[in-house]
Amino acid sequence: MKKPTPIDRLDAAQARREYARLGEEIAEHDRRYYAEDAPTISDADYDALRRRYEAIEAAFPELATPESLTKRVGAAPAEKFAKIRHRAPMLSLGNVFSDEEVVDFVIRVRRFLGLGPDAPLAITAEPKIDGLSCSLRFEKGELVQAATRGDGFEGEDVTANVRTIGEIPHRLKDDPPEIFEVRGEVYMTHADFAALNARQGEVGKTLFANPRNAAAGSLRQLDPSITAQRPLHFFAYAWGEVSAAPADAQMGMVAAFKHFGLPVNPLMVLCHSAEDLLAHYRQIEQMRASLGYDIDGVVYKVDSLALQARLGFVSRSPRWAAAHKFPAEKAMTILRGIEIQVGRTGALTPVARLDPVTVGGVVVANATLHNEDEIARKDIRIGDTVTIQRAGDVIPQVLGPVLAKRPRDSKPYVFPHICPVCGSAAVREIDEKTGAADVVRRCTGRLVCAAQAVEGLKHFASRNALDIEGLGDKQIEQFFRDGLIKTPADIFTLEARDRASLKKLRDREGYGETSVRNLFAAIEARRAPPLNRFIYALGIRHVGETNARRLARHFGSFEALRAVARTASEGSEARAEINNIEGLGDVVAEAVADFFTEEHNEGVLDALLEHVRPQPMEAIASTSPVAGKTIVFTGSLERMTRDEAKAQAERLGAKVAASVSKKTDLVVAGPGAGSKLAKAAELGVETISEEEWLKLAGQEG
Ligand code: IVH
Repeated sequence: MKKPTPIDRLDAAQARREYARLGEEIAEHDRRYYAEDAPTISDADYDALRRRYEAIEAAFPELATPESLTKRVGAAPAEKFAKIRHRAPMLSLGNVFSDEEVVDFVIRVRRFLGLGPDAPLAITAEPKIDGLSCSLRFEKGELVQAATRGDGFEGEDVTANVRTIGEIPHRLKDDPPEIFEVRGEVYMTHADFAALNARQGEVGKTLFANPRNAAAGSLRQLDPSITAQRPLHFFAYAWGEVSAAPADAQMGMVAAFKHFGLPVNPLMVLCHSAEDLLAHYRQIEQMRASLGYDIDGVVYKVDSLALQARLGFVSRSPRWAAAHKFPAEKAMTILRGIEIQVGRTGALTPVARLDPVTVGGVVVANATLHNEDEIARKDIRIGDTVTIQRAGDVIPQVLGPVLAKRPRDSKPYVFPHICPVCGSAAVREIDEKTGAADVVRRCTGRLVCAAQAVEGLKHFASRNALDIEGLGDKQIEQFFRDGLIKTPADIFTLEARDRASLKKLRDREGYGETSVRNLFAAIEARRAPPLNRFIYALGIRHVGETNARRLARHFGSFEALRAVARTASEGSEARAEINNIEGLGDVVAEAVADFFTEEHNEGVLDALLEHVRPQPMEAIASTSPVAGKTIVFTGSLERMTRDEAKAQAERLGAKVAASVSKKTDLVVAGPGAGSKLAKAAELGVETISEEEWLKLAGQEG
């Protein structure tokens, strides 16, 4: 190696060149060391580089900039957290907003369980903490892992950060279950939030909008020593994987948390009726301002774990729980403009551009105006002072104009009849059956409309669809604008085209070797997506995550779905098959058929399938004797309600159909079964009783 020129012999130009080169080299070593945990240089050599860099800067101080490595405290943080797959998904709660909805919740639970109005039913009520949820895994009593909720299935590994929260024990007391995943909320108190923001302000850092953001920002620090300086707290209220539950009811579980040394909220009570729940709700609402931490509602949970198991889940929320949200907060501001956004399905959505205003601790500058009819009905005009409302995480909405403050020269708003993006006509479809116009105006330029294409691509790559990290909304917009990605298949040829091209992605602004490498790796990792995600990613109208899962479960493979959907013209047997899948129906079946028979889509799919192999659904409970079978329930059931039986069958991986056909594998018939039972006999479909069903489902009668 060439001996370095002594510093006092360097001229200004040499110094500048060497300083810049060293800066890059050191930054790259920092990244390898901190972000990849894979240094390629010894500590001594690294120190030597750094000393030389500092010496040049001392001799030529004019070279120093605010970005100089000497100005940075510590090193570049890791770019991201490791991912942790939750062993039991972290679900969300269904919301209720009014007293009537609380009464309905209790009625629904009773009906599902087949409980008469006088049968006892205990339900807990506790504050809904406005923080961020976190799952703590204890093995043999030791805290071994902590993860954020993430998308509910996969969160971020924040173990090191959670260990700095004083209130969370590193070791549980007494004799906890061998495996104990405790879930709860990490939050910050009002006082600590105010003090933190004051400190942030003093050092010129951005202020946090509210305690929840502050808690999230503090927990999700790549450097745990920063988390350690932030005063975070925790309330345990739920659990994931547990080797042996220490109690058989919600109240008992929370008592066990406390016994093992975990903090729990003191305001949890056991109620016995909707009236009880509402009374506790009112009490908590009154205490809200003096609690010292943010809560945004009250959570109700069926107390008995056995009943919880029977109730199960709809989509991603438990049937046995509900979040009763506090009423929304309101504010007034001026409506400066109405922007029309065009969505994936061509829907024109009006978005209000507002003078920024703080509502419930959050600055709001945009809000939804719902649709054309709402704007007309409320006569909302640009320039109006409007009332806006924000409830929890819901997008803020414009409630209406304050007429007394209306400017004299204002004019009624005219909703555009052409698409602001592609100029095609935008129309409101007429429902053939009812003759009514759809509330949504849609752009008719489906194949030429850039907005629809871009939104479709964003949806394709989004978290609940293919989940391609590094290909977010901003990147897709850029790549689309530059002609790099026009259809989903283009995503998968991006790397090969980049290799062949002279204009490399890594030379773009905001990109570099590493980010491009990461992006390509993320795309590579999605060449075999789970079937349900793939179907959802296609953005078929009326096919959200739940319907995508139903289709995936029913058809098993993409080829099978496509073969049937392609021939599913109105009145065909194929259409009836889709229609008959439990939970789908006419509208969805038509949308699926439309999608797969559209010529343009055929081309897009063919191209895509050259690069992507959707994987059959993770065999849900494939060991169960009814997995993959199509079952029809008929007649009255005595041991459980029809809804409960259906949910149970679906949990076991069966498909539940509404009517008996050649495709039916099993009919479960209770007393009073009529035509379906006859049809089963005619087609020779196996028929069993409710008792036999329970045995099959593993609940010995
Ligand atoms: S129970 C399966 N209890 O609310 C249900 N959640 O909207 C598990 N939350 O993700 C949640 N306080 O972050 C439950 N006392 C409480 C809660 C609570 C706050 C959050 C939690 C959850 C979200 C659902």
